[in-house]
Amino acid sequence: MQLTDTHTHLFAEEFDADMAEMIQRAIDKGVTKCFLPNIDVSTITAMLKTCDEFPENCLPLLGLHPCSVDASYEQQLAEIKTWFGKRKFYGIGEIGIDLFHDITFAEQQKKVFRTQVEWAKEMNLPIIIHSRNSFNEVMEIVMELHDERLKGIFHCFTGTAEEAKKVIELKTFKMGIGGVVTYKNSTLPQVLKEVPLSYIVLETDSPYLTPVPYRGKRNESSYVWYVAEKLSEIYRLSIEKIAELTTQNAMEIFGQF
Ligand code: NI
Repeated sequence: MQLTDTHTHLFAEEFDADMAEMIQRAIDKGVTKCFLPNIDVSTITAMLKTCDEFPENCLPLLGLHPCSVDASYEQQLAEIKTWFGKRKFYGIGEIGIDLFHDITFAEQQKKVFRTQVEWAKEMNLPIIIHSRNSFNEVMEIVMELHDERLKGIFHCFTGTAEEAKKVIELKTFKMGIGGVVTYKNSTLPQVLKEVPLSYIVLETDSPYLTPVPYRGKRNESSYVWYVAEKLSEIYRLSIEKIAELTTQNAMEIFGQF
């Protein structure tokens, strides 16, 4: 069984003490491939170090997160862009718009998102989108810039059936489903009844958004198994089949890995 965690910040300091053991626990659960989305210029070194230490399991994504967009965004973008020529990255992320935490730089966030979507088209890389309280703003930009080259993932999708339909209509985008789907009051299981499994990839967003039964504790990539278990209940398929199909979906976005 091969499970793929398409979004996990394994380079976060929360994992400093037990990184190797944590990766082994993931492998033991069948989670052999993990995609690591960058945050900003300050995290690139740690992210690449983790990928170099576990090259079979940890695959790098590079981008500037909307919550790190501030007055220095131009320098940050310039520095991030130089890295693309230096080694292989599997996608641009995480990028997007966050109107939940701080809207001081909302206009700059949109500009930075646009710039990175344009990079993705030039470099033929997928985008990994963070949209918090900003689905419409993100969708407006994606629809405007969308062409046959642009593909990607709406990371941590927790939207409505109507929003899911809009993602499906893009055809080349998937929804990243994580721990939220296991939460007791989540509306996501109901929404997913109208979403074909072919539009779904699995993720943890470790160390955040831990699934039941570990909700409240640190999240880690081995727990993507609990997300798969919940989807097996929703889609009435075995966990093995969920693993196989969602890994295939991830390959449609990232290419072979
Ligand atoms: Ni994230």
